[in-house]
Amino acid sequence: VKLAVFASGAGSNARRLIEYFGTAAHPQGDRGIVVALVVSNKPEAGVLHIAADNQVPTLIIEKEAFFRGDAYVPALKAAGIDYIILAGFLWKVPSLLIQAYPQKMVNIHPALLPAYGGKGMYGNFVHEAVIAAKENKSGITIHFVDEQYDHGASIFQATCPVLPNDTPATLAQRIHELEHANYAPVIEQLLRKK
Ligand code: GRF
Repeated sequence: VKLAVFASGAGSNARRLIEYFGTAAHPQGDRGIVVALVVSNKPEAGVLHIAADNQVPTLIIEKEAFFRGDAYVPALKAAGIDYIILAGFLWKVPSLLIQAYPQKMVNIHPALLPAYGGKGMYGNFVHEAVIAAKENKSGITIHFVDEQYDHGASIFQATCPVLPNDTPATLAQRIHELEHANYAPVIEQLLRKK
């Protein structure tokens, strides 16, 4: 099974996925699942360095082309990509891509959806909102992608406490640890069930 990881930022989740599953040239274990491609919308995204360091092919997509889909969807198919993993990818996914990968695209969100999701709810904006609302817990949601932001069917959630002295940065770190521990194994289980 070949995964394409879509990411716009630092790419710590992408790094973890590459470590866990390995790449086409260096698969990890005998899972039969590898990270075959990293896709980004930002030429300067840190995730591209992580991909390069691990010899994972990359694809940078410009906005118009992303929403038109004509060039890269055939490229994903030609590369044999079976499954799309969003890991901090900040553009809304167009329906043509969802239709090309029905129930084969997942996202990770740094809060307990359906709370604290939707447009503009990403990165530290999520954690600021959680802290401002004086929540005593937060967590992560792994879910299928549909045509609305942070909306598709939930696959997995895990929670962590929000501590009285938390700042968005300290909460972000706790959430990242939860993401790194869970995203790859949850994807593995999901693919096993197929
Ligand atoms: C993660 O917190 C993820 O939940 C969100 O974007 C962040 C990406 O972080 N969708 P990184 O680039 O993987 O470090």
